[in-house]
Amino acid sequence: MSQKAKKKQRSTSGWRLKPIGYVKSPYKEKAPHHGRENDKGDFRLVLDPEYIGGLDQLKQFKYIYVIAYLHKSGKKYPIRVSPPWARGKVVGVFASRSPQRPNPIGLTITRIKKIRGNEICTTGLDLLDGTPLLDIKPYIKDADVKSKANNGWIRRNLKSPWSKPKK
Ligand SMILES: C[S@@+](CC[C@H](N)C(=O)[O-])C[C@H]1O[C@@H](n2cnc3c(N)ncnc32)[C@H](O)[C@@H]1O
Repeated sequence: MSQKAKKKQRSTSGWRLKPIGYVKSPYKEKAPHHGRENDKGDFRLVLDPEYIGGLDQLKQFKYIYVIAYLHKSGKKYPIRVSPPWARGKVVGVFASRSPQRPNPIGLTITRIKKIRGNEICTTGLDLLDGTPLLDIKPYIKDADVKSKANNGWIRRNLKSPWSKPKK
């Protein structure tokens, strides 16, 4: 393929994503770094009615991926970030879950509680109320659970959003 053809293929002109709905959450201005199953509040994914058919059979899965557009992130992002809980550790934006990134897309795994019409009630989300929804996909145990996964640069002594709460 010629350089010109490659450039044309990568061109972003004409790309458009259309939200499929929005997030309903109790967080109006500040959301947690990570949603938890026992977070208190009403968390819902409200789909535009034209997408109801797309929910067929989804209830058979326990968990879903929620892909959202972090619309309040703004256009600027640092290429290296220091997460607020990381005690000054600096890492590349792609080695982080920072909401400020070149394409401010959020990825959250949540449990389905109930599906009613065009609404999916879920457990805790880390998304602000009104966040535009881009997609929903089933979390498939055999495809998605990686038994060899690790925690990368996130050391045990860092109190990260994924640290297990003390019992
Ligand atoms: C650290 S991100 C992680 C999101 C997701 N779990 C991920 O890994 O992509 C979660 C943070 O995104 C921010 N956030 C949530 N909804 C947002 C929105 N609509 N616009 C901008 N920032 C948002 C909140 O500050 C929240 O603490």
